[in-house]
Amino acid sequence: MNNLQSDALVFFGATGDLAYKKIFPSLQAMVERGTLNGPVVGVAKAGWNLDQLRARALDSLEKHGGVDRAAFDKLSSLLRFVDGDYQDPATFSAIRRELGASVHPAHYLAIPPVLFGLVVEQLGKAGVAKGARVIVEKPFGTDLASARALNAILLGTFEEKDIFRIDHYLGKRPVNSMFYARFANSFLEALLNRTHVESVQITMAEDFGIQGRGAFYDQTGTIRDVVQNHLFQVMTNLAMEPPVRTDSESVRDEKVKVLKAIAPLSADHVVRGQFRGYKSEKGVAQDSKTETFAALRLEINSWRWQGVPFYIRAGKSLPVTCTEMLIRLRRPPTIFPADGLKPNHLRFRISPDVTIAQSMMMKSRDSEMSGDEVELVALDGTHPNEMDAYERVLHDAMAGDATLFAREDYAEEAWRIVDPVLKAGTPVYEYEPGTWGPVEVDRRLVPADGWSDPVVQKPAEVRAA
Ligand code: BG6
Repeated sequence: MNNLQSDALVFFGATGDLAYKKIFPSLQAMVERGTLNGPVVGVAKAGWNLDQLRARALDSLEKHGGVDRAAFDKLSSLLRFVDGDYQDPATFSAIRRELGASVHPAHYLAIPPVLFGLVVEQLGKAGVAKGARVIVEKPFGTDLASARALNAILLGTFEEKDIFRIDHYLGKRPVNSMFYARFANSFLEALLNRTHVESVQITMAEDFGIQGRGAFYDQTGTIRDVVQNHLFQVMTNLAMEPPVRTDSESVRDEKVKVLKAIAPLSADHVVRGQFRGYKSEKGVAQDSKTETFAALRLEINSWRWQGVPFYIRAGKSLPVTCTEMLIRLRRPPTIFPADGLKPNHLRFRISPDVTIAQSMMMKSRDSEMSGDEVELVALDGTHPNEMDAYERVLHDAMAGDATLFAREDYAEEAWRIVDPVLKAGTPVYEYEPGTWGPVEVDRRLVPADGWSDPVVQKPAEVRAA
């Protein structure tokens, strides 16, 4: 059934935070674009009625992206609401009724993973899993064992081709631009290998804290929250071999191969940090050892990458908000004074702006044979009417295109790599909010020629430039 369009969307967790911040705006955008026409059934146990759900949707849109009156009215007319306990079979009979004539619904589980098993089983029993797809939110498990258990649960009711594991980073246009740039430019592809690359750095910095998500975050930490999923996806996009075709399985096969070539992380190659003040956040344990920052080093033991260190760093309360990848090339042999000679790099910035840049040394104007580093920059601004990452992934899941989703083997390989450090109980070093993490990083985990801290221009500076 994979090219079939899902003819209804059932979303569990309809009164939750994710629905409020991301799902309603995406649903309105899909209606506006004409890609959502069937019933949209919200499910939650909140003691609400349909009008309350509509009011919540309106409020969500007012706060997140704005209301398009015509699209909102249409979305309102598609909305249904089932209020009920996930334990109770009556909830699922009500879902079946609300689905009406739909035969290929997509069930979106925007709920905590501990509830997946129960909901999936109930969907099966109620007869609404047949011909259906299931879309599951991250985090997909908490370690390798729980991810395997989750897969077993999902595969007990759905086939792998009908399971869509969300990683919204894959829905971001810049992540896909990177994939395009790699295989559409011979000069880039010629450089991306162990012959030319000295090291790769991937930084995901956020200049804010945990934004009231203490209870979730304290159980999760940076490695589970963004490294194992978002940043590994960015890394595999960069490191994968060209797929033989661009269909979902050919692309996903290549990504899995990258992960298979990575050994489990060693505790020596990881530094965890926690920003000062984290323990006073609501929902966080007083003696919490959860990391809000992680830096790590790994190697991809493939023909292309063997011996090239990959450094990944991510954290909350850092100096800027930016996700960027810096590929540092090997220094050239040189007849010029090495002083001031910087190795060339390629830079892919995913947010807040989309940039692909290449550095080079240019001779300075004086008569000495010395120079300065400049960047050749390809900028890609936001496009009007561009799909948001959540709209993109929901749209693709309902259309049955699995390219932008983590396959079962990918999810398990990614956990295999981080599993040992999640269990190792490595120390957590404190850092000052607004800095680049704990000083321990500078002692133990520094790429040759140092970390490259992304510089983000404030909007006013950009305008003035
Ligand atoms: C989420 C994480 O998956 O991604 C958050 O749970 C993080 O902690 C967020 O802030 C970042 O996504 P984006 O799209 O805002 O860069």
